[in-house]
Amino acid sequence: MENSRRKKEYDNLFKIVLLGDSCVGKSCVLVRFADDDFIQNYSATIGVDFRFRSLSMSGRKVKLQIWDTAGQERYRTITNAYYKGAEGIILVFDLFKKQSFDNLDSWLSEVEKNGKTDVEIVVIANKNDLIAEGEIPEVSPRDIQEFEERTKLKVHLASAKSGDNVESTFLSLTGTLIEKHQP
Ligand code: GTP
Repeated sequence: MENSRRKKEYDNLFKIVLLGDSCVGKSCVLVRFADDDFIQNYSATIGVDFRFRSLSMSGRKVKLQIWDTAGQERYRTITNAYYKGAEGIILVFDLFKKQSFDNLDSWLSEVEKNGKTDVEIVVIANKNDLIAEGEIPEVSPRDIQEFEERTKLKVHLASAKSGDNVESTFLSLTGTLIEKHQP
């Protein structure tokens, strides 16, 4: 009785998984979005971790369950299992580590193999704050443009450290998921 009177906590629950090489900043992106904070010396994720954040958008109450996976190869079999049921995936690479950008293709083929067929994918090019510090990125705007044209995926330049574009990337993904999952 009590339960039926209680207002529904949310209209949609979406599972979003952060994927990408080790040290690209996945945990920091999650902490920035969940707590609006940055932890410089976050220890490497072991296996998986998750957080919730609730928000309202387009007149709907949405609860996001966001999974942070370990980028290290040795955890790959554990992490694979976690994006099976995900509605959204945020693939993260480090603008200053070309290898993490080159590996996006193998992450995408893993998602194709193990993920839902209609999973929504967005890409974060992280550590954008370092450009303002005078550092030269290893991944050029041309590399990014070619990737976007080839894969039809949107790359969001962002920084977990400054917070630049982290919130907007999650909100853009959430908006797409709401549209896709209208009752
Ligand atoms: P795994 O757990 O091993 O998969 O790594 P991860 O991808 O979760 O990386 P993590 O969030 O632990 O960050 C790795 C390092 O990058 C840390 O030293 C962070 O302080 C640093 N870092 C993360 N995001 C940013 C950013 O936006 N800017 C800068 N300058 N450093 C960042």
